[in-house]
Parts: sequence; C-alpha cells; structure tokens
Amino acid sequence: MKVALVTGGSRGLGKNMAVHLAQKGYHLIVTYKQSEAQALETVKEIEVLGRQATALQLDASDPASLDAFAEKVSSSLRSCWQTEQLDLLVNNAGIGIHVSMADTTEAQFDELMNIHVKTPFFLTQKLLASLKDGGSIINISSGLARFSLPGFGAYAMMKGAVEVMTRYLAAELGSRQITVNTIAPGAIETDFGGGLVRDNRDANALIASKTALGRAGKADDIGAALANLVSDECKWLNGQRIELSGGMFL
Ligand SMILES: NC(=O)c1ccc[n+]([C@@H]2O[C@H](COP(=O)([O-])OP(=O)(O)OC[C@H]3O[C@@H](n4cnc5c(N)ncnc54)[C@H](OP(=O)(O)O)[C@@H]3O)[C@@H](O)[C@H]2O)c1
Repeated sequence: MKVALVTGGSRGLGKNMAVHLAQKGYHLIVTYKQSEAQALETVKEIEVLGRQATALQLDASDPASLDAFAEKVSSSLRSCWQTEQLDLLVNNAGIGIHVSMADTTEAQFDELMNIHVKTPFFLTQKLLASLKDGGSIINISSGLARFSLPGFGAYAMMKGAVEVMTRYLAAELGSRQITVNTIAPGAIETDFGGGLVRDNRDANALIASKTALGRAGKADDIGAALANLVSDECKWLNGQRIELSGGMFL
C-alpha cells in the first residue's frame, strides 16, 4: 500500500497527478485552498479507480499554519490507512502572477515566496518524520526557471529556489533512500495565471510556435509522466530537474 500527498490537488496539474497516481495504485491525500467542491470531485474520481482519498484544506500563503496542517496529515494517515507513513510528497500548489519586476509589489513578492518557497520548504521539513524511508518527494518548478519571459521574474525566481531546494534535499535525504526530484512543466492549459495558456488564442499559438512538438501542454502530459517517474523502476533518478515542456525554447 502506498499513500501520496499532492498539494493543490483540487484542479489543474495537481488533480491530474493525483488521478494518474491512483491509476498506479496510490491512495491519495489532496489539498485545496478554497475549491473544496472540486477537491471532493478529485476524491470521487480516485475512489472510482478503487483507491481511497481524502481532501484537506491548506493555505500555502500562510506558513504559520503548517504545524496544524502536518497534524491533520498524520491523523488522516492513521484514520484512513492505519499508517503513520507517507510514500510520496508532491509540492505542487501554486499561483502565477504576471507582472514586470519594475512593478512587482512587496506583497506580491511575499505571497509568491510563501506559496512557492517557504511552504514547500517547511511543509517538507514538518513531514520528514512521516515520510517513509525509500519514499519520494517531487517539487514542481517551471520551464520559466530555465528560459526568461518578461513578466514572470518574481515567480521564476521562486521556482529557481525550488530547484536548488530539490538538490539539497536529495543530498540530505539520500541516507534514508528518499529520492527528491524537480518536475518543471512548460506552459500547460490549466486555470493557472487566469487560464492564459488555455484561453488566450494568441498566447497559446505563440507557445505552440516555440515548442518543438508544436503545441501547448495538457495536464495529462504532466500527470502521466509524474506517475511514471515515481515508480520503483525510476529509483535511481535523484536530485534532478526534469523539464516536461514538449521542448520549449530549445
Ligand atoms: N499551468 C502551467 O502552465 C504551469 C507551468 C509550469 C509550472 N506550473 C506549476 O504547476 C503547479 C500547479 O499549477 P496549475 O497549472 O495546476 O494551476 P491551477 O490549475 O491554477 O491550480 C492551482 C492549485 O493550487 C492550489 N492553490 C492555489 N493557491 C494556493 C494557496 N495559497 N494555498 C494552497 N493551495 C493553493 C489551488 O487550490 P484551489 O483550487 O482551492 O484554489 C489549486 O489546487 C504550480 O506550482 C505552478 O507554478 C504550472
């Protein structure tokens, strides 16, 4: 039996990852910030696949709430699966803010920092005792940490930090046989950033033109790959950044 925690599993990439993980046999804890109904939809889809799932509220912009959240994770593990241990943590929850560095406010910077850096760092730290030896952590970055598009500076900086965090965690957790990797999606058609990639024809066409495989990404492009990368066959993959972008800006 394997249990995974996917933050931001109510919609978009997190939901897709959770469903693909369920297809590979994982039971799931998914989190939402405000979309409880959508998180419960994810739970239902997972249950239809014959796995157990539960949805917990998490506000990644409030790192002070993480002790209480970690406690909720532990009690869910006990009550749903009679275990103390988590096999996989996916730090996925996130938001996009499109603003030039010249116009980025301190409040926007702090929100991005809390959601994308501070919460993944301290959530991981607080769940280390619950993470099984031999388990896995996946941190979600972005293609924007490798290539630069004006308007995403602050966001991309945070994703750069996530990638460094991955390497250091991998170095520190290797003695427990825990693997830690980054998945960096390219531009994917989700609600992210107001649904820009999905809903804005010009933005979608521009992305397609800069992508070797000739289209923008779909959530399935990410969830399916993630579920394969955490399989027992991929245990030698560690401390790496894997970009899933169809070959953007090669
Ligand atoms: N889509 C892309 O093009 C793309 C590309 C590269 C990287 N990424 C990264 O992939 C991850 C997921 O993006 P997505 O495309 O799936 O976005 P999405 O469709 O907008 O979904 C965002 C998810 O994160 C949750 N969330 C948002 N703010 C939160 C907060 N303050 N605390 C806790 N949870 C919060 C949302 O919960 P609610 O439903 O409750 O709001 C939702 O589950 C993010 O880390 C993003 O940076 C996305």
